[in-house]
Amino acid sequence: MRGMLIALVCFRAGGALADVDLPTKFLNQGSVANTRHNMTQRQAAGGGPAGATMDSYRNDYEEVCVYCHTPHGAASGQVPLWNRTIKPTTYTTYSAINSPTITQPITQPGANSLSCLSCHDGQTAVDSIINMPGSGRYNASQATSQDNAFLNSWTNTRGPDATVHMGMKGGECLACHTPTAGFLGAGATDFTVFVTGTDLSNDHPVGIRFPGGGVGTDFNAPTGTKGTITYFDTNGSGSLDSKDVRFYDTGQGAEVECASCHDPHGVPSGAPGSTFNPTFLRVSNTGSQLCLTCHSK
Ligand code: HEC
Ligand code: HEC
Ligand code: HEC
Ligand code: HEC
Ligand code: HEC
Repeated sequence: MRGMLIALVCFRAGGALADVDLPTKFLNQGSVANTRHNMTQRQAAGGGPAGATMDSYRNDYEEVCVYCHTPHGAASGQVPLWNRTIKPTTYTTYSAINSPTITQPITQPGANSLSCLSCHDGQTAVDSIINMPGSGRYNASQATSQDNAFLNSWTNTRGPDATVHMGMKGGECLACHTPTAGFLGAGATDFTVFVTGTDLSNDHPVGIRFPGGGVGTDFNAPTGTKGTITYFDTNGSGSLDSKDVRFYDTGQGAEVECASCHDPHGVPSGAPGSTFNPTFLRVSNTGSQLCLTCHSK
């Protein structure tokens, strides 16, 4: 038993035992630059996991934020300064077919979830952005479609140019990031479970309205409001911060979206500067803490 515990500690260096996360070569601490959401795959300090391996398959913009945000020329919508291609898509939602007990209306994923799905549904290359670093490298049509000629105009200065712009799906990023990948992928982490595809019917519902609630009902009552966001001010800070589970209202009422539960930049598990909660969760799910923030069960 003791031996097993030690083995587990080594496997999840620096994290709480009960939480589960894939091993990563990133520190998972301090900045999004030190997480898997660093698409340059080169860490601020040190060489990073395998930036060079990835060079032929995605543009290395040498900036972490730009894969998701741009200071100018952003897409219009609800996501702050959004820089990524969001292809018009109809998703299969969680529905009454899966559950006779669901009570709330479900719509297509809201803008917030679409931002995550712009990578995680696998349809779009991870480097498909509207405004590349530098002046005059802007293409407005990139907001809704991926133009490979535009993406090819980028030069990787730290390695060979990307000639293929891969998305997170089988035959692309997963050509290496699966256990069965051949020589090239040897040692690459298995990311199969990260790729949601366009069928969201087996995932926790998103685009679903929060019924509100309180003591004695099935749901807890959020305690804070900021603009269109309502949130659980679990740490009692009186303001919206990254640890707060929240709902997004894009005109259909307060809804659960991906970033209700996840913060794509990482959330310190304890004091500022501590290791991030696994899987970008706002609240660690040890003891089902995250679930129990909303559900009163
Ligand atoms: C993998 C994509 C991704 C990357 C990389 C990323 N962001 Fe974000 N960011 C998002 C998404 C999605 C939201 C909206 C989330 C929400 O509603 O809380 C957001 C929201 C924000 C916000 C406003 C809300 C908040 O949480 O404060 C700021 C500020 C921000 N990002 C800054 C940055 C900076 C600076 C970087 C680079 C160091 C960065 N982001 C990198 C996806 C990303
Ligand atoms: C720019 C593309 C991109 C965007 C946008 C993006 N992700 Fe990711 N995400 C990735 C990649 C790449 C990985 C690493 C795994 C892989 O390659 O399949 C990852 C990994 C994750 C993981 C697993 C992390 C771990 O440590 O186990 C979670 C959870 C996640 N993303 C959630 C989100 C959520 C929620 C959003 C939106 C708020 C989002 N992502 C937006 C590209 C993206
Ligand atoms: C030619 C094979 C290959 C391809 C294609 C490839 N990768 Fe990788 N990737 C690797 C190897 C090898 C590593 C280093 C081992 C590791 O860290 O998993 C790596 C590491 C990573 C990591 C860091 C894992 C961690 O947390 O330490 C991420 C994230 C990642 N790749 C994302 C991607 C994305 C996104 C794509 C598609 C644009 C992609 N990879 C395409 C081989 C590949
Ligand atoms: C109700 C909360 C909640 C919502 C909403 C949610 N997630 Fe998650 N997500 C989680 C939890 C909890 C985990 C950790 C699961 C585990 O440890 O197996 C997770 C894990 C993940 C992972 C890592 C793969 C895995 O299964 O461990 C990815 C990628 C991810 N979520 C993406 C998304 C995306 C994209 C959305 C929106 C379409 C989303 N999540 C919406 C709670 C949520
Ligand atoms: C941000 C708030 C929130 C969080 C966090 C959350 N849920 Fe939910 N969940 C909801 C809402 C809202 C519904 C829709 C309920 C309905 O329509 O009756 C729902 C639906 C569900 C359903 C489907 C119920 C049905 O009748 O089909 C299950 C099961 C569930 N959640 C489990 C979980 C688990 C497990 C976790 C933790 C990993 C979790 N939830 C975290 C808000 C949340």
